Amino acid sequence: MNVLVCGGAGYIGSHMVKMLHRAGHEVVTFDNLSTGYRHAVKWGEFVRGDLLNQTDLVKLFQGRHFDVVMHFSARSLVGESVQNPALYYRNNVIGTFNLLEEMRKRKIGKFIFSSSAAVYGNPVTDRIDENQPTNPINPYGRTKLMVEQMLKDFEAAFGINSVSLRYFNAAGADPEGELGEEHNPETHLIPNILKAALGQGPELKIFGDDYDTRDGTCVRDYIHINDLCSAHLKAVEYLENNPGCHVFNLGNGSGFSVKEILQAAEQVVGKPIAHKIVERRSGDPATLVADASCATAHFGWKPGFTDIGKIIATAWDFHSSQVLGRAQGT
Ligand SMILES: NC(=O)c1ccc[n+]([C@@H]2O[C@H](COP(=O)([O-])OP(=O)(O)OC[C@H]3O[C@@H](n4cnc5c(N)ncnc54)[C@H](O)[C@@H]3O)[C@@H](O)[C@H]2O)c1
Repeated sequence: MNVLVCGGAGYIGSHMVKMLHRAGHEVVTFDNLSTGYRHAVKWGEFVRGDLLNQTDLVKLFQGRHFDVVMHFSARSLVGESVQNPALYYRNNVIGTFNLLEEMRKRKIGKFIFSSSAAVYGNPVTDRIDENQPTNPINPYGRTKLMVEQMLKDFEAAFGINSVSLRYFNAAGADPEGELGEEHNPETHLIPNILKAALGQGPELKIFGDDYDTRDGTCVRDYIHINDLCSAHLKAVEYLENNPGCHVFNLGNGSGFSVKEILQAAEQVVGKPIAHKIVERRSGDPATLVADASCATAHFGWKPGFTDIGKIIATAWDFHSSQVLGRAQGT
């Protein structure tokens, strides 16, 4: 297949590019490098450009044919989306609209979209399946839901078939150590724990230990980056035989509390990691765990990394090798 990966210089997209390349597909990465890195695009062709720039888009599609588009590009910081919703609606909604318009003109009929558990907002039950009401509580989540809704209309009117994958927390790194998570600022728990362990970041803060969970800290679902990416490959196969507009959750199906993640990380790094308990953050539900059984039932996907220690170990290998590399000037 010829695959266009929008946002292929970012955390998830760069791992996807590697997996596609390994599977023998031709890959083109399109990215404006706003939060991604040129050094993370190690396979296939790289085209620098912005989804908000029509000239960049025309150049991207000119002379190239794509069978499938995978769309990872987005701004994805919840707090930033509250402070600057315009940035989010422009980048995530208008940017996606521009991409779909180009696909429509060129009759490209397969689209895989990085949606998010943020579309559910405060869930009605702890374990979340796709039938939960969608009620996002911040602009970021609303942009994801708007795109899902746009995809329904584009399928009905223009025949663009799509799978929206609602990710829970992506975690870990390439098990071969070539890629990893490099968000700046980093808001995700596991890299922040590991940075604290390496003395690279501030002391780790645990936001609230008085939730109604087994140890009082928030429980979340962590899915390894390679499991996320393998689900994309399965989703493309699924679309071949099942045209339409589909939505699936992607998660591990087990929840870990912040304290449990911290303990697992301490085992991986082999030492205690300093932390402090601070006030709850507003808008953090106590428990968010995916029911991803639909993805298993429909396209035979199952997460391979079920041991949280192994997920954290892949991230640790990446983070510690970065620090070692910097120390050696490589
Ligand atoms: N990381 C997670 O845990 C998680 C969870 C749920 C959903 N998601 C979604 O998955 C996708 C990928 O997440 P990530 O963590 O890899 O993010 P990331 O920020 O690392 O990657 C996003 C990439 O898109 C690029 N980009 C952004 N706007 C662009 C534009 N207008 N034109 C061209 N390129 C643009 C960025 O430069 C970056 O390389 C996002 O859509 C995110 O909302 C991520």
